[in-house]
Amino acid sequence: SVPPGYRHTPQTQFRHGDVRAAQRATLEALAAQIAASPRSVPARLGAERLLGTRLAGSRNPAHRDVVVAQWADHDPTIVEAAVATAERAARALGDLGLAGRAAICERAAAYLADHRREIVATEVLEAAKPWVEADNDVGEAIDFLHYYAQMARRLERADRLDSPPGERNRLHYRPRGVTAVIPPWNFPLAIPMGMTAAALVTGNPTILKPAEQTPLTASFIADAFEAAGLPPGALVFLPGRGETIGQALVEHPQVATIAFTGSKAVGLDIVARAATLRPGQRALKRVIAELGGKNAIIVDADADLDQAVPGVLQSAFGFAGQKCSAASRVVVHRRIRDAFVQRLIEAAAELPIGDPRSSATVVPPVIDDEAQARIRGVIADAADAATLAWQAPSTPSEGSYVPPTIFVDPDHRAPLWRDEIFGPVLVVDTADDLADAIDRANDTDYALTQGVYSRSPSSIRRVVDHARAGNVYVNRPITGAIPGRHPFGGFGHSGVGFKAGGPSYLLQFLDQQVVSENL
Ligand code: SER
Repeated sequence: SVPPGYRHTPQTQFRHGDVRAAQRATLEALAAQIAASPRSVPARLGAERLLGTRLAGSRNPAHRDVVVAQWADHDPTIVEAAVATAERAARALGDLGLAGRAAICERAAAYLADHRREIVATEVLEAAKPWVEADNDVGEAIDFLHYYAQMARRLERADRLDSPPGERNRLHYRPRGVTAVIPPWNFPLAIPMGMTAAALVTGNPTILKPAEQTPLTASFIADAFEAAGLPPGALVFLPGRGETIGQALVEHPQVATIAFTGSKAVGLDIVARAATLRPGQRALKRVIAELGGKNAIIVDADADLDQAVPGVLQSAFGFAGQKCSAASRVVVHRRIRDAFVQRLIEAAAELPIGDPRSSATVVPPVIDDEAQARIRGVIADAADAATLAWQAPSTPSEGSYVPPTIFVDPDHRAPLWRDEIFGPVLVVDTADDLADAIDRANDTDYALTQGVYSRSPSSIRRVVDHARAGNVYVNRPITGAIPGRHPFGGFGHSGVGFKAGGPSYLLQFLDQQVVSENL
């Protein structure tokens, strides 16, 4: 059950003119500062700030020549010092106890709330995240901090075991040890904050390696914990590349837990590397991996299309579809197929595409040129495996845009139907009846999110009963899970581990010890 002290942080109301103006002023001021000179993002090892000699840059996806932040592209040898720094902080972190660490998380949440506009502006410029989605990302990070703080307090009381007369039995939780957090760029604050807060509140010194594309946004996490009074070194902030720093962290014998969110390919590589024992290693590594999805929305014959059409569009094309939760497949009942597709295309044509410096933008550019080339390649290849129903006729010339694209009648063997695309590409399939729709929606090894639009309670129940997905959404979009309300995560090929923002998440960062005492 949800802890009584937990409340979801409300969204910022950008529809109010003064709220919008304040956000715009912060955004334009930051853009001007960055145009003058990029921000610098050093590694932080305790009190040390290390920028090194080799620098890499995060770039604005809407203006690829603009370097938003320069970060230290260290050699993997720095991982030794990072782990040593974290280990030195273990005692101070442990001495705080669960309640002390929970209080730090709450102060970190207050810091994020105080800096919300600045972080939103950073996400707009560094990740091209639209205003509302960037604001939700900050809200989710705040929610994770509050939720895990509350759940940690609850762990303190979870020590009652059956104890017959003359015997006292207790269950203790112990931190597992140094934790490596390796997040993606698409929720550049919330996802790294969720994993970091969980690791820290349970007493594990943590090394956060932010995504290469969004280190400036993630640096607010280090700022927040510093401001909150976390013991120095307990959170090492270590920008770097996955192939170098990420891999060295995964393989380091003193790293006991790896919390990763990202692609299935990288997740499987981490699991494999973590399975090899290395000299001096005293723990078997635990990997928590939240991976991809190939998520479907079923649109039943009696669906309310006034709900289904905008819900599907938001799920598929919001933030250019760059979410593991995004809809990339729709399965529509044959009886309403033509009406649905026609209305979907009409509504898609109205989606604002462009630089998210405009508050109206829904479909921004994708994260970088590599993603742009990859997704455009998927679209080109899909021409043989489905029928192109619609594509946005134009996108801005500058920036890594991919036009939102809708295919129909896919070949079920093709990558378009099977593989995660992580871009604004949607394919609509047609089912003869509900049983057929359920089979088609479940036709993926991933099992992350699934949606259904229907007015019939029995149809909804059937879909829910058969859905092969960790998060099932009824008559609503399938993205935007809120900690404590919609604990998030899948099974199948979508990952290993308990749901983020859910009641069991913290347990993964702990070992259990039973003490049985003869009285
Ligand atoms: N939690 C996000 C969502 O629900 C995905 O990571 O959209």
